[in-house]
Amino acid sequence: MSCEVIILAAGMGKRMHSSLPKVLHQVAGKPMLFHVIETACSLNASKVHVVVGHGGEIVKEYCKKLPQDIQNLLTFHTQEKQLGTAHAVSCVLNYLNQDSKCLVLYGDTPLVNKELLEPLLDLGESSLKLLTVIMQNPFGYGRIIRDEEQNILRIVEEKDANPQEKAIHEINSGIIATSSKILKQYLPKIQNLNAQQEYYLTDLTELVVKAGLKVSAQVTYDEKRTAGVNNKIQLSEIENTYRTLQAQKLMEEGVTLIDPKRFDLRGTLTHGQDCIIDVNVILEGEVELGNNVTIGAGCIIKNCKIGDNSIISPYTIMEDSTLKVHNTIGPFARLRPGNVLEDEVHIGNFVEVKKSHIGLGTKAGHLSYLGDSEIGKDVNIGAGTITCNYDGANKHKTIIGDDVFVGSDTQLVAPVEVKEGATIGAGSTVTREIPAHALMVSRARPRILEGYERPRKEKK
Ligand code: UD1
Ligand code: CA
Repeated sequence: MSCEVIILAAGMGKRMHSSLPKVLHQVAGKPMLFHVIETACSLNASKVHVVVGHGGEIVKEYCKKLPQDIQNLLTFHTQEKQLGTAHAVSCVLNYLNQDSKCLVLYGDTPLVNKELLEPLLDLGESSLKLLTVIMQNPFGYGRIIRDEEQNILRIVEEKDANPQEKAIHEINSGIIATSSKILKQYLPKIQNLNAQQEYYLTDLTELVVKAGLKVSAQVTYDEKRTAGVNNKIQLSEIENTYRTLQAQKLMEEGVTLIDPKRFDLRGTLTHGQDCIIDVNVILEGEVELGNNVTIGAGCIIKNCKIGDNSIISPYTIMEDSTLKVHNTIGPFARLRPGNVLEDEVHIGNFVEVKKSHIGLGTKAGHLSYLGDSEIGKDVNIGAGTITCNYDGANKHKTIIGDDVFVGSDTQLVAPVEVKEGATIGAGSTVTREIPAHALMVSRARPRILEGYERPRKEKK
């Protein structure tokens, strides 16, 4: 039987106190909704229905950032007024297959994963299966009411619960598995006679029980993965959970994290052996480390590939760049998008590199800007070298051949080429092609005026 997933994402999230729709608030650098959509796709769903409402247009627009194959599975349904979770699901009813398995997920419960959901989808004899959680502090959640034989009877919301019910520690995660038939038959029967005057999806349980059908629960103690986000405190807790889980997994795989509490992965990290990551490092997007890569404190690295035996020294920021093996970068280096650094390249402190290809063994140790450049191997870029790549309208290329020596404080006015083996004297402005093995110096001749008295302040 095919499985259709329904994700509820229409609520406004009053308790977030934000103009951004709740489900777009980010966990690990990604909207909560994206986590849920990706989980839905990992279950091989045939369709993913997303119910949007509050800020729906913004949510839909944002989803265009998802990979195309995921977008192809999505259909959006608008819930004009947010009248409750049952009302939200009813917006999808007419679009569900006649006979499919249905899984309802909440856009504000981002960490629930495949491992928790797969057993839930195994309905067996049950018409409805709930994912319930035994929680230390159940405050705010719907409670699961069972009879003496432990059969599930109904769910009662915090706001409607009496003190005995509030003492129950088994809560409703909100996530249910059922069939389109059950939803089509019983959802229209749900009423809004409760404290919030909302149509509660949780009331489906009692209706199905009363019809004599079997309702069961998949019970978990994993309160971290099933936690929902209603406010910024819970958002930070979820972020914390995510960070801890990621860090644990990486350490189990052999990555050394100097302090797992001070490490953030906002995306995915693949790695070889013996990688060491110091404190306060943030990795974003897709980062790939080879063997024996060391990342110093405070580095921010996004979508980069870093080859074996490379050392990224503290406070380096790099994005969309590929570094081959034995590179040494930083401290305080900045690699903007589009760089390829061959083996044994050294980029030192306060060097900014953009859209450049840098050859084997080339060094730029201090205070430089290398943009739109193609630099050969064994080149020495002196301190303060600047590629003047921008004329106010267009960007131009600087080409530097192998074994060139660029003296300190050189400006390379692009488009310009320095041929192999050439030497540029310190303080030069290069405006035209320099032939191979030539020496070029453009430096004003010094004038020396002996015995010069500079004006001085009178002492009071
Ligand atoms: C809900 C459950 C509660 C459960 C908790 C788990 C109900 C009535 N209550 O409470 O039993 O313990 O989740 O986190 O279901 N939404 C819509 N349209 C609406 C209302 C909500 O799409 O009209 C969406 C929200 O965007 C959110 C989800 O449904 O993603 C849950 O809504 P929320 O208001 O946060 O429900 P809770 O009060 O947390
Ligand atoms: Ca919620």
